[in-house]
This record gives sequence, C-alpha cells and structure tokens, in this order.
Amino acid sequence: MNRIYNKLLRCYKCYKAKIQFQPKVALVLGSGLGDYGDSIQVEEVLDYHDIEDFPVSTVPGHKGRFIFGYVNQVPVVIMQGRVHYYEGYSMDDVVLPIRLMKLMGAEVLFLTNAAGGTNYDFKPGDFMLIKDQIATFVESPLKGENIDALGVRFPDMSEIYDKELRSLIKDAAASLNIPLKEGTYIQLSGPNYETPAEIKMCRILGADAVGMSTACEAIAAKHMGMKICGISCISNLAAGMTDKPLSHEEVQETADRVAPLFKELITKSITEIGKL
Ligand code: 6GU
Repeated sequence: MNRIYNKLLRCYKCYKAKIQFQPKVALVLGSGLGDYGDSIQVEEVLDYHDIEDFPVSTVPGHKGRFIFGYVNQVPVVIMQGRVHYYEGYSMDDVVLPIRLMKLMGAEVLFLTNAAGGTNYDFKPGDFMLIKDQIATFVESPLKGENIDALGVRFPDMSEIYDKELRSLIKDAAASLNIPLKEGTYIQLSGPNYETPAEIKMCRILGADAVGMSTACEAIAAKHMGMKICGISCISNLAAGMTDKPLSHEEVQETADRVAPLFKELITKSITEIGKL
C-alpha cells in the first residue's frame, strides 16, 4: 500500500487510541495567533510528539499540538503550530496534519497565516480574506501516486476557498466592525523573504499577499473534499514597497498587535460556521 497513506493511517490510529473527540471545524493558527487555543473551552490536548511519525515544527514561537474543544459549542480541532516546507519536510509531511484532521472528522478547514502584502492598497495590520491562491511555485502535495482513498487524481481547484464560507466571514467581519480586505494568496517556499523583483512578479501575477504556507494545505484539503476558508494577517508590506528591510520580528510584532481583533473575527466566524 501507499507509503504516505500508511503513515497517515499510523498517525490516525495513534490519535484514535488517545482522543475521543469529533471536531467539525479544523483551525490552523498562523503567527501571532498561537495562543488562541488557550482561550477556547479545551477538552483534550494531543502533543505532536505523542503521535508516532508525526512531523514536528522547529520554528521558534510555534508550539506543536492539537487542541480539541469548543468555540461557542462548535467542536473544533486547532493546530497550534504548523509545519513549513522551508523546514525541510517533504510536502507529504507538510500536509499530513491537514489530512489527519479530515480523518478526525473535520468538514471545514479554516486556515490562518501572517503574510506580506504585495498589494499597495494594503497596510500592516490589515486582514485579507483569501479568495484564491497561487501555489505553482511550490511542489504539489498531490505529486506522486494518487491516494484514491483520499480523493481523485485530478481534483478541481476552480473554487478552493468556499464561496459560502467567504460570504459568512465577510458578514462576521462587518458585524464586528472589522475591516476585511479580500485577495489572492501566493505561496513561495521561503525561508528567505523575496527580492523586490520577485514581489513585482507576484503582483503582476495577481497576488495580493505572499507567504510560506497555506496554499499547499488548501490543495490537500480540497483533494479530500473539505470546505476551506482562510484569512491572512498582513504583517508587513513585501520587499521593495517600503525602505525597511523585512524581519521575522516585525512579522511577529504586527501579528501579535492585531491578534485580539483576529481572534474575535475567528471566533465569530466559527460560531456562524457551526450554524451551517
Ligand atoms: Cl514579505 N514573504 C513571505 N514569503 N512570507 C511572509 C512575508 C513575506 N511577510 C510575512 N510572511
């Protein structure tokens, strides 16, 4: 049988032996949102280290665990810390947690990240609802033998980010008076930030925000038929748009600064998703 699927099933068995919780929404926390999981009604916690074969993140500030609990009665599994491609993991490993959360029962995937703005209308601290994505600069997580048990060989990607969920999040933001931009996210491999020429390329290609995660996760989730939504926190403007050099500290600082609003938006959105 398929090596990648085998590994996924081993992780699932490990999870199943420890956790009796059935999530509806899977939430992936980006930079700055790391402690969101501590603010919900926590039922169970599963450390990534306690899942045999599970890829474990090495980025400082990224914890590594699943939190199971309720956001206003909605059962969620939260990934506190994701694994990034730039850490050296294969794409199979990067999306393994996403696939695992689908096996746990999650129907909706809610992706968040901190991203650089490539759109001149954006400013640090803005939130961008992800409308579409460009993932062609990173390897597809679906490369290699298709795992038929998960999805089809050639999955449709014409609406990765679910229209109904996008509309729901826009309504949630409006009801909270939180301004929400909307745009296309482009994933590049990192870990270096881009050059001004690369950012110009991203803009010409139609990207509004650039980051090092999310898009590959959305592809793996779409393959499995999950409903997907995503919000980027624009932590900084990308290279060449200001005189300032980019730093992870700036990214973290902005993400931390707007985290309270981001959390409000996520809580309201998940609460509404629970009513679907
Ligand atoms: Cl400017 N680029 C990338 N790739 N990721 C980011 C970023 C920029 N800002 C935050 N994350």
